[in-house]
Amino acid sequence: MDLQNLLDDIVGTVQPLLGQGAPADYIPSLAAVDTRQFGISVATASGDVFSSGDADVPFSIQSISKVYALALVLAGDGDRIWKRVFREPSGNPFNSLVQLEHEDGIPRNPFINAGALVVTDRLLSIVGNSPSPVRELLRQESGNNSIDADPEVAASEAANSHRNASLAHFLASYGNLENPVDSVLEAYINQCALEMSCTDLALASRFLANNGLRGNGTALLSPSQTKRINAVMLTCGTYDAAGEFAYRVGLPGKSGVGGGIVAVVPNKCTICVWSPGLGRSGNSLAGIAALDEFTTRTGWSIF
Ligand code: DON
Repeated sequence: MDLQNLLDDIVGTVQPLLGQGAPADYIPSLAAVDTRQFGISVATASGDVFSSGDADVPFSIQSISKVYALALVLAGDGDRIWKRVFREPSGNPFNSLVQLEHEDGIPRNPFINAGALVVTDRLLSIVGNSPSPVRELLRQESGNNSIDADPEVAASEAANSHRNASLAHFLASYGNLENPVDSVLEAYINQCALEMSCTDLALASRFLANNGLRGNGTALLSPSQTKRINAVMLTCGTYDAAGEFAYRVGLPGKSGVGGGIVAVVPNKCTICVWSPGLGRSGNSLAGIAALDEFTTRTGWSIF
């Protein structure tokens, strides 16, 4: 398989889609991003990287950060988190409040905002937030020590965080937060504001394709924990579009409203795509089309 040729071809295929969809506008500083950009990177399990398009342009990883927060909590705390968050698809938008009251303050899964707030809360209890454990993991696994949160994006989200603040207070009212609401929100917003390129993210996610092994050969997660994170990515990683994503792409994937998506081909490679124009559910339009093309052309799907 000539991966470089394939990625260059995919950049050509998605051109008609660039500029379609809208950037996230509820975080004002994300709304200013040029939607005509597109990047794609593949990191193989053995550490080779292939990239095309705007693969080295840093973007806001947003909800993709939820995967690494969950990985760190499972690594530090085993299965305890599953008493505080379910692992069922919600069928609702990522920032919805409705199920939380019907379901006694236990979020449907760790990738909707309510669930990620619970995971972030637990991570704060286990390891604290200075330095940010998610940032440290992503620096170490990508080899890029300049990865950091964009303070403007963080400030922009903090100034417009009524929904997440409502979710956090609601969780607290059910006794499902261990730390003060403000500390949880701050840690969550800062990990969402991390800026990384497709190449950084493909490299940093390799443990998901490598049975939990980090780049240095030590285990972050067991093979079974890694299987379970990938399963939750498949069923919940793209919110109320997870069925459509599984149908079109056939891989575990996690999206962010910055327009990035990380997908995993177990035992083979990780793929990161980025294009800021989003569809109705907050997932990159061109990114999903590119992943569809990638799995169709390579046959590398879990199905
Ligand atoms: O909490 C939020 O709303 C954002 N910081 C992250 C949302 C997000 O990326 C949803 N993904 N598609």
